[in-house]
Amino acid sequence: MQKKEQYLKSIQEIDAILEKENNMIVKMATINCILKQNLSYYFWVGFYCVSNGALLIGPYQGTIGCLHIRFDRGVCGRAARLRTTQIVANVHNDPEHIACDSRSVSEIVVPVFDNKGELIAVFDVDSTEIASFDEEDKMFLETILTKHFSTSSLIKQY
Ligand code: SME
Repeated sequence: MQKKEQYLKSIQEIDAILEKENNMIVKMATINCILKQNLSYYFWVGFYCVSNGALLIGPYQGTIGCLHIRFDRGVCGRAARLRTTQIVANVHNDPEHIACDSRSVSEIVVPVFDNKGELIAVFDVDSTEIASFDEEDKMFLETILTKHFSTSSLIKQY
């Protein structure tokens, strides 16, 4: 299956399962699960949640992730500071990158906003291949995250 088809299948599943869901953690766990199952090149997938001016590990699938990331550290911190999606073709060439698993080679980090435009999390995906992520990933991921976190009211506690 092409990347586009893998995303379209995922979007159908995510939209159906989350149709009546408002809980932020439930949404995060579900989005991780469906994307990790369907996107063949996903190695690590997860959310870092904004808490007291830093990023804290949230729901994820994959090997152990860093637990706390400051806004001035990592590709995740950069996405949070700049409030824009970061695509890194080769993490070994990015001085800001924090290595949680040495097998990760490329990465995309998408900021997640609530319906007031407040940054609530970043969504991070790692691949073991070089340059796995491109504008198509960015477009599909931003679409999924906007739909499920920015356009409806969220219950932010578990
Ligand atoms: N690589 C990230 C840290 C998180 S892990 O990849 C799971 C970063 O540079 O912010």
